[in-house]
Amino acid sequence: MAEAHPDIESILLSEEEIKEIVARMGKEITRDYADKNPLVIAVLRGAVVFMADVMRAITCPMSVDFMAVSSYADGVKSSGVVRIVKDLDTKIEGRNVLIVEDILDSGLTLSYLMRMLQSRNPASIEIAAFVVKDIEGKKPAVEPRYVGAHVPNAFVVGYGLDYAERYRNLPYLGILKPSVYE
Ligand code: PRP
Ligand code: MN
Ligand code: MG
Repeated sequence: MAEAHPDIESILLSEEEIKEIVARMGKEITRDYADKNPLVIAVLRGAVVFMADVMRAITCPMSVDFMAVSSYADGVKSSGVVRIVKDLDTKIEGRNVLIVEDILDSGLTLSYLMRMLQSRNPASIEIAAFVVKDIEGKKPAVEPRYVGAHVPNAFVVGYGLDYAERYRNLPYLGILKPSVYE
């Protein structure tokens, strides 16, 4: 395996492991949506890498759209407020919607999005999360139908996930050294 970036403490999911996860999720989604022509929605910006991979692992007819929301701004801690930066271009009434996210952390972003999109009366709405952060004693606010992997309660970057807009381009998922943000 290639050397990790110097700011990375450890690699959680290698490129190879990610490939297997994405292939498995693509199969699950294809099986469930074979005749549903889903609208697959990626949440910018973090989900863009996972979206690009998982959509190519889905083999049934589907379309895509994008939303941009932000809750973390530039920092490590969620601001607690979800801001819509870009809304959908597609009408979702009566559609089978699948939201694609890179990470379910506090669940603030996804629970807000679920509520907001639900009010537009889609036929169904589910979540595919590449990773879910396990926080001890805390049950996530939403339950994704599709989960790639669980990650520990640490600051993870790469494969689309950033710290202050950096590290999204790392091809693996890793834990950021605390010295970088402390
Ligand atoms: C990150 C991540 C998820 C969200 C998860 O997005 O991509 O969308 O936070 O955290 P939560 O479950 O606590 O809401 P961010 O707001 O940093 O925007 P980005 O995707 O542009 O990085
Ligand atoms: Mn995001
Ligand atoms: Mg972010």
